[in-house]
Amino acid sequence: MKIAPSILSADFGRLLEDVESVEKAGAHMLHIDVMDGHFVPNITIGPVVIQSLKGRTKLPLDVHLMIEQPERYFDEFIQAGASALSFHVEACVHLHKAIHEIKEKGVRAGVGLNPGTALTSIEYILPDLDFVVVMTVNPGFGGQAFIPSVLSKIEELRRMIDEQNLPTIISVDGGINEKTAPLVKKAGVDVIVAGSAVFGQKDRKKAVNKLLGRSQKD
Ligand code: DX5
Ligand code: ZN
Repeated sequence: MKIAPSILSADFGRLLEDVESVEKAGAHMLHIDVMDGHFVPNITIGPVVIQSLKGRTKLPLDVHLMIEQPERYFDEFIQAGASALSFHVEACVHLHKAIHEIKEKGVRAGVGLNPGTALTSIEYILPDLDFVVVMTVNPGFGGQAFIPSVLSKIEELRRMIDEQNLPTIISVDGGINEKTAPLVKKAGVDVIVAGSAVFGQKDRKKAVNKLLGRSQKD
């Protein structure tokens, strides 16, 4: 299992230091939450921030768009330096087209599913997806409580992917901490996104190791 710390819970006044701390701690990628104040109530990061981080960290930039009409902004985020780009199925009518627009630019394409959204929404495009972001909170804010009913959705998605022998990655986002990380691992996720459970701890290495279930020695 891999980990993508979400900079939503970082200290934006010391962003680069915080990014370096998770890179040193053994994070696999950096999760960047983009919110527009429409699809979700909160407003966060735009392409300029991603552009500033590009080249300053070796971590791949995993950009999670929680915005309406996401297709309008794919190019900007790709040019800014996204190595993976996800958008929400609830915000997009032409899913198949949108996924291929991202992939054609050489960027990994994923879709996010809110807790109330069924897997049938992605059934026919699953082979086209590089990854699926299963939301375990209603998106908008860091530090919310994990919604346990989503575990059965993760298990079902794991089954769908394995049955078709697909390389699609399952990423889980929201409320991941020491208690919930083992649950999603058991349900079959490949990547955990964690904001407050990483940046809320002084010792980032200890936090990352705990979430991944690694021993403290390494
Ligand atoms: C939720 C965001 C998450 C968020 C996770 O709207 O998509 O990536 O930062 O934060 P935690 O890990 O604190 O729940
Ligand atoms: Zn996210």
